[in-house]
Amino acid sequence: MNLLKEHLLLRHRDIPNIRDIDVYTRHGGYEALRKALTDMSPLQVTDVVKASGLRGRGGAGFPTGVKWSFCPAHVRPTYVVVNADESEPGTFKDREIIENNGHQLIEGIALCAYAIGSQTAFIYGRGEFKGPFVRLQQSIDEAYQQGWLGQNILGTDFSLDVYTHLGAGAYICGEETALLDSLEGKVGMPRSRPPFPATAGLYGKPTVVNNVETLANVPPIVLHGADWYRQFGTDKSPGTKIFCLSGHVVNPGNYELPLGTPLRTLLEECGGGVPGGRAVKAILPAGVSAPLLPGDNLDLPLDYESVQQAGSMLGSASFIVMDETVDMVWAASKMVHFFKHESCGKCSPCREGTYWMNDVYHRLCQGHAWPGDVDLLLNIADQMDGNCFCLLGEFSVCPVRSSIQHFREEYEAK
Ligand SMILES: Cc1cc2nc3c(=O)[nH]c(=O)nc-3n(C[C@H](O)[C@H](O)[C@H](O)COP(=O)(O)O)c2cc1C
Repeated sequence: MNLLKEHLLLRHRDIPNIRDIDVYTRHGGYEALRKALTDMSPLQVTDVVKASGLRGRGGAGFPTGVKWSFCPAHVRPTYVVVNADESEPGTFKDREIIENNGHQLIEGIALCAYAIGSQTAFIYGRGEFKGPFVRLQQSIDEAYQQGWLGQNILGTDFSLDVYTHLGAGAYICGEETALLDSLEGKVGMPRSRPPFPATAGLYGKPTVVNNVETLANVPPIVLHGADWYRQFGTDKSPGTKIFCLSGHVVNPGNYELPLGTPLRTLLEECGGGVPGGRAVKAILPAGVSAPLLPGDNLDLPLDYESVQQAGSMLGSASFIVMDETVDMVWAASKMVHFFKHESCGKCSPCREGTYWMNDVYHRLCQGHAWPGDVDLLLNIADQMDGNCFCLLGEFSVCPVRSSIQHFREEYEAK
């Protein structure tokens, strides 16, 4: 199912073998980098990304060009760090880009590096990405061989080396500052902010951390311009987005659609609806890291603002569909167990809070609930909210509160 005439990001679905550098260059590949290096100043590259309205696809939706512009012009070295940790449950979009359209990512990295004056980039992948990273390394090797990476690219004074690094499979290492610590060889735990990575990141130097999908957007933006890019999506959420669709759907998978596309289109036209024609009970729009939405939201436009207005977050756009057969207390218990397992233990609200919530859910699901357990869960969530060192702990209260808000009777029944 393709509702776009041509994919911007999943181009391998239109052009077979685009992961080979010859195929990529035959279809306009590395032309954006050529244009930037021969025709544009670094500032102009940042400006076009700013004007495009591209927002980070890793979760927070922060404007990409604005982030780049925070990097001080006079401090060197600077680093580009690519977040390929992709650990959010239900998220599998970056992997598809890495495996099938790696050169578009590499070109995006090079454009970012040029814009912020960096000569070194690191791609940090989740520990389980061994296979995808073999493919990615092949693409990087090809780019070196053909002169798109390395010393004096296109005979200019711009040089860039790209290194890959695999973590050990910890969810917290997707959080950008924990990622930087892990990359430096330390245990991956979040840093306090400020300072933000743009001023003091990897090895204390200015660093841009961007998601894989974010950077894959940059070559078409630089090549075709901001106005061209803005023909897709909405005014405040321009462009296309890869929606990861999983759970109770006939055709799970990645679907690249303009931002603002209604949820019904994603679920029914792309996903083929719920198996057996059963009703949608709830949707998780951002993996397990945002409040779940009840199933009557099918006309919701999928852009950052609309999903927020509906009481959740678009995040990484990982849509997990739950049909009417799902026990919502059980589902929330699984999510809380995930957070308890992944809590890094640095701060007590998250370390203790996820532990206690998990304990209460265990009781609930084993049929040993105590009177007042639902309010106890809400009480723990209130104590965690706003008090955790990083967003992992804050995320963990989302499934608890939202499932109680919309399905309290299922809790009471237990
Ligand atoms: C617990 C946690 C896990 C995260 N995991 C990821 C991840 O797997 N991939 C990712 O790109 N961003 C992840 N993020 C968001 C990053 O911290 C950061 O916002 C992102 O890499 C910035 O890139 P962007 O501006 O291109 O979105 C996570 C954040 C938190 C708090």
